[in-house]
Amino acid sequence: MTTQENSNVIVNQAEKSRLNEVDFDNLTFGNIFSDHMFECDYKDGKWQTPTIKPYGPLLISPGAKVFHYGQAVFEGMKAFKDEAGDVFLFRPEKNFERINKSSKRMAIPEFPKNFFFEGLNTLLDLDKEWVRPGADSSLYIRPFVIATQVGVSASPANEYKFMILMSPVQAYYNKDVKVIIAQEYSRSADGGVGAAKAAGNYGAQFYPTNLAKEKGYDQVIWTDSNEHKYLEEAGTMNVFFRINDTLITAPTSDRILDGVTRDSVLAIAKRDGIKTDVKKLTVDELLAAYKDGSLKEIFGSGTAAVISPVCSFSYNDIDYDLVKPEDSYFTRFKKELKDIQYNRAEDTFGWRVKI
Ligand code: COI
Repeated sequence: MTTQENSNVIVNQAEKSRLNEVDFDNLTFGNIFSDHMFECDYKDGKWQTPTIKPYGPLLISPGAKVFHYGQAVFEGMKAFKDEAGDVFLFRPEKNFERINKSSKRMAIPEFPKNFFFEGLNTLLDLDKEWVRPGADSSLYIRPFVIATQVGVSASPANEYKFMILMSPVQAYYNKDVKVIIAQEYSRSADGGVGAAKAAGNYGAQFYPTNLAKEKGYDQVIWTDSNEHKYLEEAGTMNVFFRINDTLITAPTSDRILDGVTRDSVLAIAKRDGIKTDVKKLTVDELLAAYKDGSLKEIFGSGTAAVISPVCSFSYNDIDYDLVKPEDSYFTRFKKELKDIQYNRAEDTFGWRVKI
C-alpha cells in the first residue's frame, strides 16, 4: 500500500450553501450533490496535496485516458444521522480497502489512508447538514478515481484524479424488485473485473438490464458466464436466498463483489443464530426449492439498495412469484442493520464510526 506523509487538505469553502434549494422529501437517487467535493491529483509519481472546494464542473482534456480506456473505479458508502443529530459512517475502512483493491486491479496507484480519512472527515464536517435525519435518509458518499493523463496509447495513465462527492438520498428501490435470471448475457468472467468496482463493470450491465426493463423487470440476477448455471449477484446488489430457514449466498470470487452489506448480513445472521450457507446455488436448485415450497425469500443487499426484497423472479419466460413470509428475514435484517447504522441499537460489531 502507498503510504504518504501529511495531507493537510486545503479547504476552499462555498460562499453560499445550496441546502435551501433542495426538496429533501422528493429526491431521485444520486442526482443532487452537497456543497463541497474532495479532489486530489496524482502526478510525478505521488498524490499531491488534496483540496476541498465547492461542488462544480471539472476541466478535463478530452484526451484523458479515462474517456478512451475506462480506467476508473469507484466506491459507495453512506453517512447516517441519529435522533440526537450525531453523524456516523458505516464500516468506512472496508470501502477504503476495497477502492484500493479495485485500483490495483485497474493498474491505478493506491490512495493513502490518511488522505482518504482526512478528506472524508473534513468534507463531512463541512456538509453535515446534508445528512438528513429520518428513516430512509442518508448521505451517499461516492469516492472515485479517474485516469487524467492525456494520450490515447493503450497503457495505464501516469496522472489520476481521486474525488469524493456526497449526495443526499432516500431508498434506492422504492418497491419490491422483480428480477430475471440471466441466460444469455454475463456480468463478469473468471479472471475478469467482476470483483472490482470498476466503472465499466457497471456500464456493461446497462444494455442487458435495459432489455430486462423492457420486459417489466427491475434487475438481472447474473449467473456464471460459463454455463449460466450458478446464481451470482444482481449488479447493484449481492443476492441472498432463504431456503427453509437457511440463508444462502454465493461465495465471493473474482466474479462477485465482496459487498460490505453482504458481509454485515452474514455477521448479523451468525450472531442471531440463523444458519448461513455460503455456497454456489444452482438455478435448478432454486427452481426445485420454489416448487417444493422450501424457497421462502430472496433479497438483495448493497450500500445503495440496503436490503431489498425480490417479489418475483423469471426464468425461461416463466415468472415465479414470492409471498413474503410472516417471519421474513428481509424485514429482520433490514431492521437490525439500520438500527446499527442509525445508532438505534448497540453496535456489538464496532461498525459505526462517529464523525
Ligand atoms: C452501491 O451500493 O454503492 C453501489 O455500488 C450501487 C451503485 C452502482 C448504485
